[in-house]
Amino acid sequence: MRRSVARSLIRPLALAAAMTVIPLVNATPVAADSVVVGGFPIDVSQAPWTVALSSRDRFGGTRAGQFCGGVAVARTTVLTAAHCLGEDVLGAPPSRMRDLKVIAGRTDLLSAEGQEIPVRDARINPGYDSETHAGDFAVITLAKELPQSAVVPMASAGDPAYTPGTEALVSGWGDTSGAGAYPRTLHAARVRVLADDLCTRAYPGGPDGTYRADSMLCAGEPAGGPDACQGDSGGPLVAAGRLVGLVSWGSGCGRPGNPGVYTRVSDVVRGLGAASGSQKRPQARP
Ligand code: ARG
Repeated sequence: MRRSVARSLIRPLALAAAMTVIPLVNATPVAADSVVVGGFPIDVSQAPWTVALSSRDRFGGTRAGQFCGGVAVARTTVLTAAHCLGEDVLGAPPSRMRDLKVIAGRTDLLSAEGQEIPVRDARINPGYDSETHAGDFAVITLAKELPQSAVVPMASAGDPAYTPGTEALVSGWGDTSGAGAYPRTLHAARVRVLADDLCTRAYPGGPDGTYRADSMLCAGEPAGGPDACQGDSGGPLVAAGRLVGLVSWGSGCGRPGNPGVYTRVSDVVRGLGAASGSQKRPQARP
């Protein structure tokens, strides 16, 4: 009884939160003739590091509470976007969320495949700038270990995987149409790492965000087409077997001249190194 009352209050709030977060990252409405986000369904075994962030209390159970993506970078460490864990999205700080979970090893959100692991700790990058979206990452510690096979290594600064032209795969449960078609199953799109130039020109500063090459990565296809979209945020962009980006923002989805903008993972690696003080950090490989 009490629970259903709470739910009927929470649902519309969660919806309102979702409505307010989408314009933040997608200020321009998707035009009717916009290119369809050119992805394809995959099985989670093809990108086992891809996880879903979930809160059924906040977002309802129709898609297992999925509201963002994430990526496993160690057996108990998941990276996501800072903007996924904002109070405007969750309605409370992540530490106050009772049912914040990471769903791993699952292709179909409504299946029982894989596992749902409670979040033990969530830290939003204190340097995150919600105006430009610079530093858009957060670090989640899981209450239980994932299998090592679900972990993807991070690409440090200088890794050749950041070279423009490199093929990369982005995966998530986000919008597949640019018009609010949220799938039940995991999808992926093949994109390329693009030159910073393209994003600097596309996003010189404006309501959608400002491209900052030191902390962001530009990816997509110059002619538009395959791209991440709403609901994919926090999820992985993997090139040459290493994590190079986290889905962060863009203007529309898959539009020519408006590439996807990702959190540059080498900047996260740097941030994690600084946070853990003198701990040994992975060296950039030539
Ligand atoms: N900010 C969106 C999210 O919260 C991701 C948008 C990515 N957009 C893009 N065109 N790549 O899910």
